Amino acid sequence: MNKEEAKTRIAELSKIIEGHNYNYYILAQPTISDYDFDMLLNELIDLERQFPDLVLPDSPTQRVGGDITKEFQTVRHRYPMLSLSNSYNIEEVKDFISRIKKTIEEEVEFVCELKFDGISISLTYENGLFVKAVTRGDGTQGDDVTANVKTIRTIPLRLKGDFPDFFEMRGEIIMPHSSFNSINNEREDLGLQPFANPRNAAAGTIKLQDSKEVAKRKLDQYCYFMMMDDDKMIFKNHYESLMAAKQWGFNVSNFMALCKNIEDIEDFINYWDEKRNELPFDIDGIVIKVNDFRQREILGFTAKSPRWAIAYKFKAEEAHTKLLSVDFQVGRHGTITPVANLEPVQLAGTIVKRATLHNADFIEQLDLHYDDIVSVEKGGEIIPKITAVDLNKRKEFSNKVTFIEKCPECGTQLIKAEGETAWYCPNTLGCPPQIKGRIEHFISRKAMNIESLGEGKVEVLFDNKLINNYSDLYDLTYDKIFGLEKIIIVDNDNLENTTRKVSFKEKTANNIIDAIKKSRSVPFARVLYALGIKYVGETTAKLIAKTMGSIDNIINASVEDLMEIEEVGEKIALSIKDFFADERNIHIINRLKEAGLQFEQEVKKVNSNQVLSGMNIVVSGVFSTMSRDEIKQLIEDLGGKNVSSISSKTTFVLAGDKMGPEKRKKAESLGIEIKSEADFLEMINADIDSDSDKKDTAGVQGVLEFDF
Ligand code: IVH
Repeated sequence: MNKEEAKTRIAELSKIIEGHNYNYYILAQPTISDYDFDMLLNELIDLERQFPDLVLPDSPTQRVGGDITKEFQTVRHRYPMLSLSNSYNIEEVKDFISRIKKTIEEEVEFVCELKFDGISISLTYENGLFVKAVTRGDGTQGDDVTANVKTIRTIPLRLKGDFPDFFEMRGEIIMPHSSFNSINNEREDLGLQPFANPRNAAAGTIKLQDSKEVAKRKLDQYCYFMMMDDDKMIFKNHYESLMAAKQWGFNVSNFMALCKNIEDIEDFINYWDEKRNELPFDIDGIVIKVNDFRQREILGFTAKSPRWAIAYKFKAEEAHTKLLSVDFQVGRHGTITPVANLEPVQLAGTIVKRATLHNADFIEQLDLHYDDIVSVEKGGEIIPKITAVDLNKRKEFSNKVTFIEKCPECGTQLIKAEGETAWYCPNTLGCPPQIKGRIEHFISRKAMNIESLGEGKVEVLFDNKLINNYSDLYDLTYDKIFGLEKIIIVDNDNLENTTRKVSFKEKTANNIIDAIKKSRSVPFARVLYALGIKYVGETTAKLIAKTMGSIDNIINASVEDLMEIEEVGEKIALSIKDFFADERNIHIINRLKEAGLQFEQEVKKVNSNQVLSGMNIVVSGVFSTMSRDEIKQLIEDLGGKNVSSISSKTTFVLAGDKMGPEKRKKAESLGIEIKSEADFLEMINADIDSDSDKKDTAGVQGVLEFDF
């Protein structure tokens, strides 16, 4: 395909793919299969690789994230981002309406909307293209988070229809419950503090430096306010403007209503107060806005908020019940989490019989006693929490809840790391829930993918003393597991627990042995993740595997070496060192090696243009044409070696923007050449171009292998 044809096809594909994104994410009505969608996306990715200068600013490939943002730029808002005044009962809403009626002596129409519980964002569109996303910040200036926001599929990158040349769309970035739950499960799995609620998770996510990571977290966004210069405003009222925004491709909630009086408003509030638990995301109230723009102008603003709108905040849903007992659960990394068992009580549409007590400090702050009557709340949080104790109802001789000193599962004395709130059981390799938890992590889909061993089967094998660590899995045979069974009690969160039989019948046993066999070819990065080293998640494992190349290199690396790896700080480096300092872990790894697992990074096919062969290159700073990772990959592909620190053996330093001053000083003192990005590109292009036999490329990126 020549360049002209590619240009047409790239534009066509971008449009088709974004159309499917819209059908899928906004309308929830996909019209093609996932497979066909992937085929289109892959075709676009291929073309963009071949013709990098033809990548469109609104290319759907940007939805997967790209470069690392070192620091967010502070940007001044063109129109300040105000907040709303709050009301907490219907009387206050009535007062708001009376105030308005006093000023506007004609009929006033209101729009009632959901009050999305996330973080507000301002999106700028120029000539139909999304150009900038800025957080609220202090209302006057915020952070430019454009790269991260581009990964949110419900935000249009190019608008459809007849839109103004320039305007801003305001809305809320939210984290749906489904994303929140899976992220928190993963965080707990990694020994990280889970997010307290979806709002915090959304706020934390939008400020991540790696937009690829943001893309994985599946944020969503709703628009609720259009802004443009007064003399350019083409709509008469808010409702009209949102309906038009919807036509242009924005995600505008269907749950809004035009209301003529307080009765309609009250109905809307009451309806959503009751139904809000059925939404797949959190709302914390209702926003009531004057619809007409002319009336809004008359009403004006106070210093902080418009006089034409008010937020009605829902009360956090609360119930009162008795504390029956406290369980102490042991996680995969040994962390002890206290969990309150409560007399079952109806709350926000579900029956609650357990609530997390977080840690020892939390219990102490509540001064919790057994048999206490406690308040349980389900506000923004999904997991109910105990917020207060009714001291008037405390029984006279009730016992104070004290934190345990020994592990409830293996009896080991608990310890607490300096500066941390959690107690944990240090008996890593001997404590049953830790052993089972690690094996369950090892077999999980993103790790070794031996999922046929899920749903209680690990427990059965452990109980039968067939497995005590994950290397034992590779000694299992059909004969050893066939016929095993156990009745397991399932807590299905209703009042009654039910039972389930776990059995290893012929087909199951065969599947398991087969999946274990297949897992021997799982790539090194996933094996490293599967080992379950504290704080080493999927992405970190990938970066470590890629940089270090083999398990032996990791075992022999110093903390400093490890900290040279992208995303690896001291905490992770120390955790890795601790893991490999334990002889028992080394023994397990040796057994896994004998079993034939992959402990070395697969060698990528070698590029025939080895123009950097024999060169030791230090990469420093931020680059404009490629991310650091891509540059490093390119160096390797072209036969060069990436080294982290400058020495007399360094061939040259490849310096991007913001190169560290220490590095520059060192390079200068050793007389090492500092090459700019442009010089470097020219150097390798020249070499590749002169190699005319092998040349099939329109530049460097033609030989790059991107990892989408
Ligand atoms: S309108 C001039 N509409 O609530 C005010 N805000 O304190 C424009 N919010 O900062 C805001 N849902 O982050 C508006 N349907 C909605 C909203 C909404 C959530 C947030 C927004 C704002 C805060 C108000």
